[in-house]
Amino acid sequence: MSAMDFFVGITGASGVKLGVRLVGELASRGTVHLSLTPQARSIASGEGVDLDFPRGVRVWSMEALDAPVSSGSFRLAGTVIIPCSLGTLGRIAAGISSNLIERAADVALKERWPLVLVPRETPLNLIHLENMAALARAGAVILPPVLTYYHGPRCIDDMEAFILGKVLDHLGLDHTLFRRWGE
Ligand SMILES: Cc1cc2nc3c(=O)[nH]c(=O)nc-3n(C[C@H](O)[C@H](O)[C@H](O)COP(=O)(O)O)c2cc1C
Repeated sequence: MSAMDFFVGITGASGVKLGVRLVGELASRGTVHLSLTPQARSIASGEGVDLDFPRGVRVWSMEALDAPVSSGSFRLAGTVIIPCSLGTLGRIAAGISSNLIERAADVALKERWPLVLVPRETPLNLIHLENMAALARAGAVILPPVLTYYHGPRCIDDMEAFILGKVLDHLGLDHTLFRRWGE
């Protein structure tokens, strides 16, 4: 492992920009291994999000199940699926591991390093909730991108920064993305 390696999976939920911004944050702190689903690419196009990533980011095909991050012997400082479609979340909860993103999440759970899932959907049905409960019991952090208020956001970028800051908190990384309560 280099100083710090991270895995980021971007899946086909609205809010692909959150994933792109997180990659930028993590790339300044370590090596980012990244994979996107075809549906994530399609939604990025629909939402006008450029899939431009900083130099050094290692982009893996979703089919690359032989990538280093597919193995628990390749240690990571954290794995984040952002945004996480409820389809991908369900497949992770069921242990399907049929692509690199699902496998990376499975590895994070078995190795017990941080796994943060950012599911974007509303309302949630019982299947979504039960899958999230199973994943939380298995050790994942379920971190939905909710609306935020107390840090004084003025635009959606500020709310995104709050969510990204919460992800970094759960990876144990310092940041100044939002003003903390009491500061
Ligand atoms: C424009 C668009 C927006 C979508 N937004 C969401 C969403 O916010 N959350 C979600 O769980 N699925 C959403 N979906 C459905 C997923 O893309 C779909 O379930 C897909 O199979 C997920 O595939 P993936 O997990 O391999 O990326 C959306 C689909 C489209 C076409």
